[in-house]
Amino acid sequence: PVVKELFGLANLEEAIRQSYGLRKVVVVPGDCDASPLVKRELGRAGARALLSSMNEGDGVAVTGGTTLAEVAEQLNPPHNLTMKDSWFVPARGGLGESLEIQANTIASGMAKRVGAGYRLLHVPDLLGKEAYESLVHDPNIEDIVNMIRQARIVVHGIGDAMEMARRRKLEPQVTEQIRKEGAVAESFGYYFNEDGVVVHKMRTLGLRLEDIMKTETVIGIAGGKSKAKAIHAVLRFGQEDILVIDEAAAVEIVTQL
Ligand code: BG6
Repeated sequence: PVVKELFGLANLEEAIRQSYGLRKVVVVPGDCDASPLVKRELGRAGARALLSSMNEGDGVAVTGGTTLAEVAEQLNPPHNLTMKDSWFVPARGGLGESLEIQANTIASGMAKRVGAGYRLLHVPDLLGKEAYESLVHDPNIEDIVNMIRQARIVVHGIGDAMEMARRRKLEPQVTEQIRKEGAVAESFGYYFNEDGVVVHKMRTLGLRLEDIMKTETVIGIAGGKSKAKAIHAVLRFGQEDILVIDEAAAVEIVTQL
């Protein structure tokens, strides 16, 4: 297509990098929505971005999701790399999603692939007020939550707000409220409108917005034309350092948004 000729991948990367003041942008060819192979490539590029950002001893907090699961699967460190003093943690509790794509599973999977340590957070994604109050003061949970907040690197997926509300089985009136508030994106438990303003947050344990603002390296990984709006909203939120997306989303962001 014409757009592809006008915008080579490197040009797309540079255009997005400059518009949003990012450290690095990687665009893989294709559209994740159309092909699982593209999603695998996205995972591979995400894995490379993570490995090149990591130093021995670093703490890494990861979200869940199918994209991050692909990143975990593609994490193949070079032989000479030692990461035994590094550690992985889930960014938040997440027992609500299916096991394969929970942040706990992804954190432990990544740690094993690079020979690093890991700690898990066994609490649900969505907590009632009372459950939250009692868990937040549990010493073991406090311990891991403190680790999560000290992570030097955060790796996260980005989802369409309504899609994630459905997947998390939010109550209909909550979903409706989020929709009315104009949410287009969801990431790490926060819902953002198209200007990148947080319009809703989930009561959950782990990484908070203020932690993300202090994180040295935030890596966002997402792809598919259907996620362009969501990715754009999270970019406007402005905490991303490294962005790994696909061509379909990139073209949409550069030409439409
Ligand atoms: C969730 C993350 O697990 O995955 C979110 O917590 C993200 O930050 C979502 O929005 C994206 O999921 P997927 O399957 O589209 O990669």
